[in-house]
Amino acid sequence: MNEIMELKTELKKLAEDASLALKEAKGREGLENLRIAYLGRKGALTRILGKMKNLSLEEKKTVGKQANELKKQLGESFKEKLLQCKEKKVTEKIDITLPGIKPKLGHLHPITLISNEMKEIFKGLGFDFVTGPEIENEYYNFEALNFPEEHPARDSFDSFYLAPNILLRSHTSPVQIRTMEKRKPPLRIITTGRCFRRDAIDASHFPAFHQMEGLMVGERISFSHLKGVLTYFLRKIFEPDIEVRFSPSYFPFTEPSAEVSISCPFCSGTGCGSCGHSGWIEILGAGMVNPDVFKKVNYDPEKFTGFAFGMGIERIAMLKYKISDIRDFWENDLRFLEQF
Ligand code: PHE
Repeated sequence: MNEIMELKTELKKLAEDASLALKEAKGREGLENLRIAYLGRKGALTRILGKMKNLSLEEKKTVGKQANELKKQLGESFKEKLLQCKEKKVTEKIDITLPGIKPKLGHLHPITLISNEMKEIFKGLGFDFVTGPEIENEYYNFEALNFPEEHPARDSFDSFYLAPNILLRSHTSPVQIRTMEKRKPPLRIITTGRCFRRDAIDASHFPAFHQMEGLMVGERISFSHLKGVLTYFLRKIFEPDIEVRFSPSYFPFTEPSAEVSISCPFCSGTGCGSCGHSGWIEILGAGMVNPDVFKKVNYDPEKFTGFAFGMGIERIAMLKYKISDIRDFWENDLRFLEQF
């Protein structure tokens, strides 16, 4: 009889201790430690129950019942307290006065920005925007542009070949041919896109670069139109007062051909390091479409004339934004990109 009384008091004491400890317990971890200490497999309750083995069956029943009730009750108290803990945690976390996290927003690459600006100028002159493939065959990249096979000018383009006859286009001029095959004159088109040449990398060369190409074909289109359109464009994209110079040049697909320079934007033409002290910076190639090119696309060279031009977009961007190294466009350094 003594034993059972003892056990019952122990259980009662355990209940009191536990509820006191529970009141003072802090945090989820503290609670879990308490639960293990009282209700765990090696906890206080198990220890008390271990002492039941000498009791009679009847006694075991009463003590067992009391122990089970206690276990249930304590278990529930733990759960409740745990719940309070959770709720507290959540309310502590939400501070509606904290400023939000600003999502990082990207913007257009400087090459895209300048391309768009260039396109807008030509759009204003009635030019349509067209595109063509970056992977070309020799016919469009060379042959139709009047570079016959073995023509030495092919070497200067030093192209990337993917397979015999298949190459990454080395200029945007093939788009002229593709467009003329599809459309009848008169036409006014521009295109922009990536081009590829096996150039060694330095501050002004990169094996991938962008060009803009333009073509205007119609009856009685003359060199004066070419001069007028390009001068207008260059004065729009740079400064209204720049000088534009046309000097003789050579391209197989234009005749006559011209190399176009602008007065150096760095020194306004007085001569500096950027323009090799000449006061001029060469900026694009142009010319009157060679009649042989018209023949390739079944345009009547007796009836139609036209002009074409092509320029490196990086070069325009470098001059306009005063960027000294072409590699900056490809490195995706945020310190560079964020300036645009
Ligand atoms: N395709 C020439 C180049 O890449 C540029 C050009 C285009 C010249 C159109 C004349 C006319 O060098």
